[in-house]
Amino acid sequence: MRRSLAAAFAWCLTIGSACAQEPIKLDVVDDSLPKSLTGAPGDAAAGKKVFLTRTLGNCLACHQVTSLKSQEFHGEFGPSLDGVAGRYSEAQLRLIIADPKRIFTNTVMPAFFRNEGLSRVRPEFVGKSILTAAQVEDVIAFLKTLN
Ligand code: HEC
Repeated sequence: MRRSLAAAFAWCLTIGSACAQEPIKLDVVDDSLPKSLTGAPGDAAAGKKVFLTRTLGNCLACHQVTSLKSQEFHGEFGPSLDGVAGRYSEAQLRLIIADPKRIFTNTVMPAFFRNEGLSRVRPEFVGKSILTAAQVEDVIAFLKTLN
């Protein structure tokens, strides 16, 4: 048993990111995540990229943002995110992005920082969150720039 675990570990090291991560545990306090997932503030410019990139946040597919008007395909599933940092604290935004169902039961918004208990996950993504901890922090930093 121990031997096969060691073998699996060695194999994971070889193929790198295709291996499952540890289950993510979110430190939820009062419907929010007060602690930065990385221990550091995010980068707004990187967050804008995550927001716009279809394979990452793809947030624009569902949300409108006035300052990104030049971009195509603003979706209307979700509310406009103009001034969103005035409606929610940073800690609340972190939980909304990581695991929105904890705030909006039955929402169609994906959980961007969970890696278990998810439905309809493509095999290559099993055990992985959509965004990394750093990408979540970057998106939060970007949301804070939206007036
Ligand atoms: C598939 C559509 C979809 C995607 C993709 C999506 N969202 Fe959402 N989002 C929603 C919906 C719908 C709501 C409204 C909550 C509800 O369902 O009642 C929402 C709510 C929110 C809210 C709360 C806004 C408010 O004013 O109450 C924030 C913040 C948010 N989303 C951020 C994001 C970010 C950041 C991303 C990308 C990382 C993202 N969303 C991607 C659909 C989406």
